[in-house]
Amino acid sequence: MTSDCPKPIAARPSGPLTGRIRVPGDKSISHRALILGALTIGETTVHGLLEAEDVLATAAALRAMGADIERDAAGCWHIHGVGIGGLQTPGENVDLGNSGTGVRLLMGVVASHPITVRFTGDASLTKRPMGRVLDPLAQIGAEVEASDGGRLPLTLRGARDPMPVTYRLPVASAQVKSALLLAGLNTPGRTSVIETKPTRDHTERMFKAFGAEIAHSELDDGCVEISVTGFPVLSPQALHVPADPSSAAFAIVAALITKGSDLTIENVMINPTRNGLLTCLQEMGGDIALHDERDIGGERVADIQVRSSRLKAITVPPERAPSMIDEYPVLAVAAACAEGTTRMQGLEELRVKESDRLAAVADGLAVCGVRHRVSGDDLSVTGGPVPGGGPVATHLDHRIAMAFLVLGLASQNGVSVDDGTMIATSFPEFTHLMATLGADLAEVPEAAP
Ligand code: S3P
Repeated sequence: MTSDCPKPIAARPSGPLTGRIRVPGDKSISHRALILGALTIGETTVHGLLEAEDVLATAAALRAMGADIERDAAGCWHIHGVGIGGLQTPGENVDLGNSGTGVRLLMGVVASHPITVRFTGDASLTKRPMGRVLDPLAQIGAEVEASDGGRLPLTLRGARDPMPVTYRLPVASAQVKSALLLAGLNTPGRTSVIETKPTRDHTERMFKAFGAEIAHSELDDGCVEISVTGFPVLSPQALHVPADPSSAAFAIVAALITKGSDLTIENVMINPTRNGLLTCLQEMGGDIALHDERDIGGERVADIQVRSSRLKAITVPPERAPSMIDEYPVLAVAAACAEGTTRMQGLEELRVKESDRLAAVADGLAVCGVRHRVSGDDLSVTGGPVPGGGPVATHLDHRIAMAFLVLGLASQNGVSVDDGTMIATSFPEFTHLMATLGADLAEVPEAAP
């Protein structure tokens, strides 16, 4: 699944972008739907599953551990689960490719099963820290043999007699929270996670939908404790996955920064733990309207209409980071086209994503002739005409590739990225869908624009 043969892509000045599109299903929800389906006895059906490499890797891992997972039509998947505690030791290494969410959530599941799994991943995933998940999982009784620095490849031996713990999250991470809550499903008593800052809550919502007992309580210090009671009886579900706001983000920013654009993205999830980018873009003066707000499968969705706008700089406070953690690369692109200097504060978590995204964004902005400054964990971007350039180094990071291609659409001379193959990890239709709106995006034999 790694990028053996890089595929440079170039974006040329484009616009207007017009039309209605539907972006693929939410990645976070798709991983969780497969995992909970695999832990439920009976048939769970998922409509609108994201069929991208990250999610397919999670499906393959669950199959290797005994779940029966089949696709019957585009986006429609059936999962025959083995029940809580029913997963088996796989016969081979479990390779999660580029997917941090897949590997961390599955490590949580395995930690309370009496099985042994050797996890591995691609050149990006094997550099990412796993200690943040392994530390709490060790407290419940899992044992690990990891590569240097607690990284992949690693062997996880799940606990035979897992113990319930209460764990205060040292980082604002939904992956760590979810790993521990998933471990709690096969652990007696109550497993609790204390969150100091709210992070995406799809695990909690989906636990409720499947019938697990999950409780929230506010503590004296303002933090929230989330607890799951072990050994619930889960009921199979028919789930509908809404469109991924993190994928919609690229089309939204593209429409704002290209002249004369007016487009609608249908059925996008607007969960408050995910919509920091929309808040920022509206504060910047973006013309964004939500139509036909409704509930689908326990999540709020809307059709989002976006028109070209003159954006103004803002300051993005650090407490907003968890609700838009994957959207900073594309917010930096919006900032490059805004009037004034946008300040984004508290970006330390960007350093441990698919790439060091703070460095990758700064380097890409430099290649494209955009004034910017990194100071500690803060990034400032000064807007103005964007000359463009390339190739921008993407470091096996899908969101760096898509963000800089969006910048190319509003630049003077276009932008190229060194490799677009990783876009398939989250949004395989990106180039095609953007082209249907009027974007000039194409593979190039060489990385120069
Ligand atoms: C995710 C949580 C976030 C996010 C990732 C998906 C999830 O990671 O960046 O793309 O589905 O739980 P962290 O939990 O590390 O912040």
